[in-house]
Amino acid sequence: MAQEQSGHSDSRELGRQRSQSRFGRIARHGLASRPRIRLLVGLSGLLLFTLLCGGALAYYGTDTNLAVGYSPIQPIEFSHKLHAGDLGLDCRFCHFTVERSAFAALPSSEVCMKCHSKVRTDSVKLLAVRATFAENRPIQWVRVHNLPDFVYFDHSVHLSAGVGCSTCHGRIDQMQRVEQVQSLSMGWCIDCHRNPAPSLRSPSEVTQMNWHPATALFPAARVSRSGTGRTIDPPTHCSGCHR
Ligand code: HEC
Ligand code: HEC
Ligand code: HEC
Ligand code: HEC
Ligand code: HEC
Repeated sequence: MAQEQSGHSDSRELGRQRSQSRFGRIARHGLASRPRIRLLVGLSGLLLFTLLCGGALAYYGTDTNLAVGYSPIQPIEFSHKLHAGDLGLDCRFCHFTVERSAFAALPSSEVCMKCHSKVRTDSVKLLAVRATFAENRPIQWVRVHNLPDFVYFDHSVHLSAGVGCSTCHGRIDQMQRVEQVQSLSMGWCIDCHRNPAPSLRSPSEVTQMNWHPATALFPAARVSRSGTGRTIDPPTHCSGCHR
């Protein structure tokens, strides 16, 4: 457990660096309104203003597209298509905290060695798994999805309300290497929060990859949590996600 956590905090540290640099870009974008005054003063002001606006537009125009399709190379060629698709392992076998906590744990080599102490024991592709296991070190997985630190997100709330993995992560069971398929932008979160009903399934089906609204057992119109009668009402006010 200790080794997983340190692995995870390392990758979060990386993520923090990424989101800080994004904050830097937002801060620079904030300057764009100031040169408006200089515009009155002279041509150099106009030029600066144009450059800054261009930069800001380029940032907003490409940010979403840069995130969608992001698929970094991992230290081990782990395939979800093989393990979750062909072998049919449930997501929670490896991401075992996802229903109980904000974060979905990434597996340590101990989880892999449940099988790989017997399966493919001499594969070179598993060298790093055996080494980290023997040395009790975390595997340095590279983070794929990463919200800025000023956004609050909790997996368990979404899963218990009946939002499935595939709604936010796509067909992970068909991916050789994990790829981000949704923008994770503020607009994307809020679109669903305004109208969650079509995305809700039975909480028992959240890891089912081939779920489709049309074949849902859980009527789309139903927005109360089964049994409890509590209405599902995701936050759309700013402090819901920025706490
Ligand atoms: C045998 C273990 C295992 C199973 C089963 C498994 N995963 Fe994973 N998952 C991993 C590992 C290892 C990583 C980190 C390396 C990578 O990104 O491929 C990961 C990464 C991910 C990521 C990207 C995390 C990030 O950095 O943003 C997502 C999303 C994910 N898994 C979803 C799923 C879903 C959905 C399922 C079920 C269909 C599933 N996983 C089943 C082991 C597993
Ligand atoms: C409502 C959308 C949503 C659903 C449903 C969802 N995820 Fe995620 N997932 C995210 C977001 C957003 C992040 C990035 C979180 C961050 O950066 O703090 C993420 C990150 C992850 C990560 C990286 C570790 C972490 O927690 O940051 C893994 C692994 C993962 N998800 C697996 C899963 C699995 C498995 C399921 C289904 C059991 C699932 N997710 C369901 C949106 C979702
Ligand atoms: C439930 C058992 C099981 C678990 C748990 C498991 N694997 Fe596997 N893995 C397999 C099987 C079965 C194969 C396919 C072996 C074959 O093709 O003959 C495989 C193949 C692989 C391969 C390809 C090996 C090669 O030589 O082509 C890699 C890499 C791999 N697994 C990594 C991992 C990692 C990393 C983890 C932990 C996050 C993990 N596996 C967890 C059963 C498992
Ligand atoms: C596909 C639909 C969907 C998407 C996408 C989605 N959410 Fe949600 N969200 C929900 C539902 C459903 C709930 C549960 C509301 C309830 O239980 O009343 C929820 C609840 C929440 C809550 C309340 C948690 C609490 O503790 O009360 C927060 C915060 C939140 N979501 C943040 C986000 C963020 C940030 C994103 C984008 C990165 C996001 N959500 C994307 C459907 C979604
Ligand atoms: C459902 C969740 C959610 C709600 C509600 C929400 N936000 Fe956000 N917000 C996000 C996410 C996710 C991001 C990060 C977007 C990204 O990384 O591109 C974000 C980013 C931001 C940013 C950073 C600038 C940017 O565009 O990247 C600001 C400023 C912001 N939100 C303000 C607000 C304000 C003001 C409100 C209320 C009117 C609000 N947010 C409501 C999820 C939310």
